[in-house]
Amino acid sequence: MESQCSHSIVLLIICTILIALSWIGAMAKPQFTAMYVFGDSLSDPGNNLYFHITATKSNYLPYGIDFPDGPTGRFCNGKILVDFLAELVGLPILPAYKSPSTNGKNILFGVNYASSAAGILHESGSNFGHRFPLSEQIQHFKNTLNQLRYQMEEDEMSKYLANALLFMAIGSNDYSNNYLMPQIFVSSHLYSPGDFADLLIKQYAGYILELHNLGLRKFYLVGNPPYGCSPLSLSTGHAPPGQCISSSNNIVEMFNSRLKSLVAHLNSNFLDSQFVFGPSFQWFSELRENSSAYGLQVTDKGCCRYGPKNSELLCLPLQIPCANRDQYLFWDYAHPTQAVNQIIAQWAYNGSFSNSYPRNIQQMAQK
Ligand SMILES: *[C@@H]1O[C@H](CO)[C@@H](O)[C@H](O)[C@H]1NC(C)=O
Ligand SMILES: *[C@@H]1O[C@H](CO)[C@@H](O)[C@H](O)[C@H]1NC(C)=O
Repeated sequence: MESQCSHSIVLLIICTILIALSWIGAMAKPQFTAMYVFGDSLSDPGNNLYFHITATKSNYLPYGIDFPDGPTGRFCNGKILVDFLAELVGLPILPAYKSPSTNGKNILFGVNYASSAAGILHESGSNFGHRFPLSEQIQHFKNTLNQLRYQMEEDEMSKYLANALLFMAIGSNDYSNNYLMPQIFVSSHLYSPGDFADLLIKQYAGYILELHNLGLRKFYLVGNPPYGCSPLSLSTGHAPPGQCISSSNNIVEMFNSRLKSLVAHLNSNFLDSQFVFGPSFQWFSELRENSSAYGLQVTDKGCCRYGPKNSELLCLPLQIPCANRDQYLFWDYAHPTQAVNQIIAQWAYNGSFSNSYPRNIQQMAQK
């Protein structure tokens, strides 16, 4: 093409247009109109930076050491799961709801409302200070809808919302920073593990119905990872060598099995909608138990470790992390590395049926 383009200005213009068209064609066409993210520190792109009083900020190196823009408030060395997912479905990386530039055209491809330490229950994570619990994240989504109403007609908007992807990954802090923290929270004194899971799912279901009423139709709902296998849990020394704390994992799994049932129930009740369960527990178990298949060498400690037991606090400002970050399952005491986030995003996007239930994100877009 280059030699033809050099002939004349007319040819040059035509070639430029052809190259531009092929470039647009090569760019992935968005598979959803937009993506809305609700969750905790696994998905937070920096919403907690706008709080004055919170113990959950990570806008300093070495957080972001492998992220194009450096530290952003993400709890990772690089990209988080929803960054990779946005790329896979052909959308730009989603802006943080609280960022001052998240308005006007910048909200058209979706917004990320996730907030570190947030849970389904309002009080979960309060030991860390300020955060946006799920109810407030949904309030923020309603504000976004009001802004969108200035930018599109009502019928256009209902089509737009019906073809948007909701991604929700929340519930970890209801365990790690509530139920499994009996010295601070009363929930484990008041509820059996099964009753507590019922309570969480009841509230969760209410929020999903609210989002459905607001017009969303495609829901990707991620379960809880195996908390008893996190570096934080393992640092307690309560797990047998090489194993996880199975009592914590069993309690967390009660939430997961109920969430999966809820998904089945919602699918049979709302035939115009899709509800999908993302099995985070299985993803992390697979990465831990078959680690070498994924190039992972360390699965029980974070790449950047700190704390009296060397694995229970955020990485400190300017602390030197491990050099071989892609060989670690965890970046710090609880959050996976960028390498792991990329693998998981691929599984959620187009892994086999046994991964996401009843279908993966790519199939959600096609259906
Ligand atoms: C590890 O891999 C083997 C062989 O592919 C598989 O049977 C097993 O289920 C995997 N383990 C986990 C926890 O997924
Ligand atoms: C999943 O999608 C990626 C591109 O994003 C592609 O390379 C890969 O082959 C796909 N895998 C399956 C199983 O469809």
